[in-house]
Order: sequence, then structure tokens, then C-alpha cells
Amino acid sequence: MNPLARELNDDIAATNPHVLDMLSELGRELYFPKGILTQSAEAKEWAHRYNATIGTAMEDGVAMNLPSVMEHLDGISPNEALLYAPSQGLAELRQEWLRKTLLDNPDLVGRGMSLPVVTNGLTHGLSLVAELFLNPGDVLLLPDMIWGNYRLIFQVRRQAALRQYPFFRGQGMDTPAFREALLGVCRERGKVVVLLNFPNNPSGYTPDEEEADAVADALVEAAESGANVVAVTDDAYYGLFFDDSAVRQSLFTKLVDRHPRLLAVKADAATKEVYVWGLRVGFLAFAAAGVPSGSPLYTALEKKTSGAIRGTISNASMLSQKIVCDALRRPDFFEQRRRKAVLMKNRADEVKRVLEDPRFAEAWTPYPFNSGYFMCLRIHRINAEDLRLHALRKHGVGTISVSDTDLRIAFSCLEVHQIRDLFEILHQAWRELAP
Ligand SMILES: Cc1ncc(COP(=O)(O)O)c(C=O)c1O
Repeated sequence: MNPLARELNDDIAATNPHVLDMLSELGRELYFPKGILTQSAEAKEWAHRYNATIGTAMEDGVAMNLPSVMEHLDGISPNEALLYAPSQGLAELRQEWLRKTLLDNPDLVGRGMSLPVVTNGLTHGLSLVAELFLNPGDVLLLPDMIWGNYRLIFQVRRQAALRQYPFFRGQGMDTPAFREALLGVCRERGKVVVLLNFPNNPSGYTPDEEEADAVADALVEAAESGANVVAVTDDAYYGLFFDDSAVRQSLFTKLVDRHPRLLAVKADAATKEVYVWGLRVGFLAFAAAGVPSGSPLYTALEKKTSGAIRGTISNASMLSQKIVCDALRRPDFFEQRRRKAVLMKNRADEVKRVLEDPRFAEAWTPYPFNSGYFMCLRIHRINAEDLRLHALRKHGVGTISVSDTDLRIAFSCLEVHQIRDLFEILHQAWRELAP
């Protein structure tokens, strides 16, 4: 093992040995090298005559650039747009995202957590979680309604064993099923990685306060039973809440400072929240119970994460980070975000209104939804994929079949006035197929 990795592991173990046990083999081996980046950072500070360290090209202190590139980037300097960002992300952006996280989640104020590390979107953040915490065969606990890409990220790339529990019971979350599945894995394995995605893709459901407490309490109970629990919140669609039932703060807030064997990991992104899908800016942050911000344990986890980034994508886009950082710093950022959330809520409300029509009851039952970009229909009598294909080929309407029974509608992509028509067409398509 590299001595730098050993040092980081010692820092983690000295603060909380359970967190070291939670790391995968790869997670233990990871470190941030004292290579080009560290030497270049030292040179930035001390090389007052010449800095000949890094593989960029400079002209009079400015990043060498082509006018054909810079003409697209009015108002951003070549250094801000084109130079490499640090592997852990731009320091200013990390601070701004933390500030936003605390404003959105006031229960985190005063609690210990790491600085967010910048990832190349949330998918990349989750891949890093897989690398850091999952050995082949380790169990990842998930509901039966998931974003399909989890299979590639965790099962295919890291050979995790996926265990699923029923997400819904009636009009709410099946928290007893979650608890039972969780405690079962803990008894069997002594370790579990749990992925919690609210607002949920594909269903658009966020638990209410009571359900969120039940989920958090079950995780604490699992930790109390002697198992090591890594609880990861995938907050991709955070902030889009359409009625009073959905909890307003990330479930992460209910997991911090609860138990030494419970490590909370927050994976989130500007992607959906700031409507910058292709810019690829995400974040990963850690919180271990009783460990204050600035602790060597967090520094070690941040460095291991940065090492994993250095060894794969090296660093995320400087230009994207600059754009997101500037947006977060705008005094009207939250007002701009609020206005878009109103547009999305109007669409969700229209979906609810349209679905009240009793004519549709023969064709489907909507799953509960109160947040996010999507909602799901449980299709009666015919296969959801057959309906999808028929609606697409005969009627030109695109939806996503997420299982044999469930069809996902991304109302985030529809104007309010298009929504009734879409469901009418789906109903028509169902009638053409249903026996
Ligand atoms: C639940 C969930 N998590 C993560 C992601 C990935 O987001 P990103 O585009 O930032 O990688 C998505 C994207 O669809 C998602 O639905």
C-alpha cells in the first residue's frame, strides 16, 4: 500500500475505525498523489521567477487560447475558462455549494460534514461511492423503483449485489419493508450500502416527515445492531416539491450525527437543480457522527475521493464549474430557481387534475407523486412496454417503460397545455391494445 494511503487510513481510523471498515479494498488503497498537481500548487505559491510545472501553455501569464474558442465565452477570461480545475474541484465552488446546502437544509447548520468534492455530474459521484465503499459481492440496498443506471454503476462496474424492497405500500412509502430488508442484510453481512433517492426517479415521490423519520430510525437501528451502514442520498431532483406532504430537507439531514457506525454520504448535483444537465457538475459530501467539520477524517475521505477522480477523469470542467459558481453567487439565484420550480409545480398540478378523470381508471393507476421531474402509471391488463411502443409508433408520443407494469411520464418536458392531450392519447393507445 502506498504510504500516503496508509496515512489517510490512519487518520480515518484514529477518528472513527468503523469508517475505515466501511471502505472497499480500492477505497483503502486510494490516496491523492504528491505528483504534478501538488508540485504545481506549491510552485503557484513559491515560484516567483518561472513556473515550468504543469502541462498547460501560457502567454504573458494568460492561458494560450484560440480566438475561435474564446469568441464563444464573452465575459469569462481564458484562465477561468480553459485552465485545469483541481481534482477536488474549484475551492470557491465547493464553498458556494456548501453554503447553498446549508441554506436549503438548515438542520445541517452546526453539524460536522466534509466540504463537497466536485464530481463530473451525479452519475460520476455515485460511481465514486461505488469505488470507495463497495467490494464485489457487497450488498447495495435499493427500492424496487429505481433509476436504471444504478445497475451499470453499481452492479456491472463494481459487481455489487443489489437487494430490493417494495417502495410503495398504498399511498405512501413501505417503510416497514425497508426496515425489514435493511436489518436482514445487516444480520447476514454486517455491512450494507443503502441508496436513498428522493424525489424518487421514476415515481416522483418524496416521503413525508413520518416516513423520513422511519427510514432514518431504521438506519440507526441497523447501526446499533453492530453493522456498518453507508447511507447515500441521491438528491438529484432536490428542491422540486409540489405539495406539503414531501419533506423539505434532504434525508441526509436526518442521518448526520446519529451513530458512529452510520456514515452519511450526500450525492447531489447542479445538473437538475440548476437546470445545467450537460455542464456535468455534481458533488459528494460525507458526515460521520460526532466528527466536526475540518476533521482529518473528512480531509482523508476528500483526498481519497480526489485520488479516485485523478485516476479516472483527472478533473471536472473548469468552465462548467466557473459558470455554476457564478450562478450560485448571484443575489437573485434563489429567486430564479424558485420561478422555475413554480413552472414545474404548475405542470405537476395539471397532471394531477387530468388524472382525476374517472375515464382513465380502466387503463392505469397513478403511483403517488409529490416532487421531482416524473410520475409513474401502473398500467392495467397490458404490458407497459407494449403500450409505450404503440403510443410511440402509432401516435408519436414518447414515454419510458420502467418495468412490465410501469410507465414513466417526464412532465418536466411538457407544457401545461400539452398534458391533457398526452394522457388522452395514452388512453386511446391503451384502448387500442387492451383485450
Ligand atoms: C436519480 C438520479 N440520480 C442521478 C442522475 C444522474 O445525474 P447526472 O446527470 O448529474 O449524472 C439521474 C439522472 O437522470 C437520476 O435520475
